[in-house]
Amino acid sequence: MVFQACIFDLDGVIVDTAAHHFVAWNRLAEELGVPFSHEDNERLKGVSRVDSLEYILRKGGLILDPATKLKLMDRKNTHYLQLADQTQPKDALPGVRDLLHELRAKRIKIALGSSSKNATMILERLELLDAFDALVDGNHITLSKPDPEVFLMAAKSLGANPPECIVFEDAQSGIDAARAGGFEVVGVGNASELSGARYVIPGFEGRTWDHILEGFNP
Ligand code: BG6
Ligand code: MG
Repeated sequence: MVFQACIFDLDGVIVDTAAHHFVAWNRLAEELGVPFSHEDNERLKGVSRVDSLEYILRKGGLILDPATKLKLMDRKNTHYLQLADQTQPKDALPGVRDLLHELRAKRIKIALGSSSKNATMILERLELLDAFDALVDGNHITLSKPDPEVFLMAAKSLGANPPECIVFEDAQSGIDAARAGGFEVVGVGNASELSGARYVIPGFEGRTWDHILEGFNP
């Protein structure tokens, strides 16, 4: 298989913002009197803001009107931005900047496929906005991962077919989304916690495009 394009998730693949999301959701959950654990946060990786709020409300047995839900999502995002706003270029996860530059030099197309509505801001802070040929994020999609919409839109923006693209994902919901869309997936994180990816790498440090391709022909 000759791959034409790569699609990167943002949170947990390019930058480690999961801790910020945890602090922000935890603060909101506390305000609502709902217990919120690291396990809950794991489950919410890749899940949109609205679906994450719905999960917390379900957990607490709370039924709220749409206007209140909007206010709560704004409040969570304010908590989140207080932390994420401090993101700097050095916060890009080890090796990812080099790989993005190598892909560009090799004319492999690159897209972002993220559920986050804060993606552009984070990429600006990382000084990585120019590294992407297309950005698809939470502002463009109507269906959250594990629906494949975000990756299908990203592939379309690049003019590539799903089987010609590798998706890099740290979340189970994202791996499921990519598989549902017919993409090849490389998991990023702990192999024992992720299923369905072609293979899983702990991160990009020291990994070139050739290393990534070798994983497909071990
Ligand atoms: C995903 C994160 O990338 O984006 C989730 O893994 C987050 O934790 C989701 O809820 C939505 O992010 P945001 O920035 O739009 O609230
Ligand atoms: Mg992620």
